[in-house]
Amino acid sequence: MANIEDVKKELSNVQYPGFSKSIIDFGFVKDVQVSGSACAITLDITSSAPEVEEALRKDINEKLASLGLDITLNIKKPEAPKQNSNSVSGKNMAPQIKKVVMVSSGKGGVGKSTTTVNLAIAASMQGKKVGILDADIYGPNIPRMMGLNGAEVEVVGNKAKPLNAFGVDVMSMGNLMEEGQALIWRGAMIMKAIQQLLRDILWEELDILFIDMPPGTGDAQLTLAQSVPVSAGVNVTTPQHVALDDSRRSLDMFKKLHIPVAGIVENMSGFICPSCETESDIFGMGTCDTLADSYNTQVLGNLPIEPAIREGGDAGKPVTYFNPESISAKRYMQAAEKLIAFLDSVDDDISNESIQPTTPPGVSACSTAGASTAAASQPQAQQSSGGSCGTGCGCH
Ligand SMILES: Nc1ncnc2c1ncn2[C@@H]1O[C@H](COP(=O)(O)OP(=O)(O)OP(=O)(O)O)[C@@H](O)[C@H]1O
Ligand SMILES: [Mg+2]
Repeated sequence: MANIEDVKKELSNVQYPGFSKSIIDFGFVKDVQVSGSACAITLDITSSAPEVEEALRKDINEKLASLGLDITLNIKKPEAPKQNSNSVSGKNMAPQIKKVVMVSSGKGGVGKSTTTVNLAIAASMQGKKVGILDADIYGPNIPRMMGLNGAEVEVVGNKAKPLNAFGVDVMSMGNLMEEGQALIWRGAMIMKAIQQLLRDILWEELDILFIDMPPGTGDAQLTLAQSVPVSAGVNVTTPQHVALDDSRRSLDMFKKLHIPVAGIVENMSGFICPSCETESDIFGMGTCDTLADSYNTQVLGNLPIEPAIREGGDAGKPVTYFNPESISAKRYMQAAEKLIAFLDSVDDDISNESIQPTTPPGVSACSTAGASTAAASQPQAQQSSGGSCGTGCGCH
């Protein structure tokens, strides 16, 4: 009958998958017991990939077959890395950008673009190198709000240089299309446009790139999440309950795309009278606290309806830059501080692969449970196709 030494001898012929050394040489064999015809082997390996375990089981059983033992194989391995971000493709189109922040809302007109501009300027005033990408290809408002309407874009080779205003780099489809030109965007075009805004623009090394999204939870959001690791999602909402319902959809989308939620901006929260400075309730105030709690996140700031905000937006003179003593500017500064603290807590050195876990063909990044297990087993998958997840997040 075979003994422990016979078993170890056979195990020394089992190579660790992908290497020329055996599992004995690597020291992965932790225990071998033989009792009669029963043999128990314990391995402790360094890879969490299921295919490594599978290959080892096959090889060990084959190598030990001649010994006629009844083998029990116990393989210990590290836990698979957690999926904490998005992407179906695992690619990063703009690796020179440290943190991408997606500014989103469930419905239109709640103040996304206003928030993006003022948060970006506030972050830049706090010493960060900041950019804004206007991904609202349907209604690009960033050029006007940043005083860049009609500004000429410089082309270098086959790439375009971002514009700059108030120390912030900016690129918008509004600066790349003829003014007033209306385009009907279809699925594939949206994807291409967003990817070009990332890849074909000469973005410098940035600490933070703020992305102003079109309203809702559609193709643009999904494409963006598939193209770069998004470190944080900011949800903008007004405080009345009908807006909060839409906000939940937007927050659910962040969750589905594995985008860490930095917080909620409660915009148009009360009205500050320009003459007497008293604050009165219009749409409700403070309703976002409960929403934030239920998504385990925070309210980054409560921005009142203040005429200076609208005037600054229309005139291309953002309130945070031109009116830093206003209540709104101060609240934007505090919100940016909270956001920066949040971004600091999202691991900087996290490898692109783990922040953008790959999803195998046929599984959408925003489909549920099955996707994550399948993703772990097929790290090389490049493309997602497959059916809609049915949540309205726009995947298909
Ligand atoms: N707190 C505020 N006080 C006063 N005016 C505001 C405030 N927030 C936004 N506005 C104004 O409301 C209008 C809509 O804001 P904004 O364009 O930022 O919204 P949006 O969510 O980006 O809209 P869309 O969905 O169309 O892209 C703008 O004219 C803006 O100046
Ligand atoms: Mg907008």
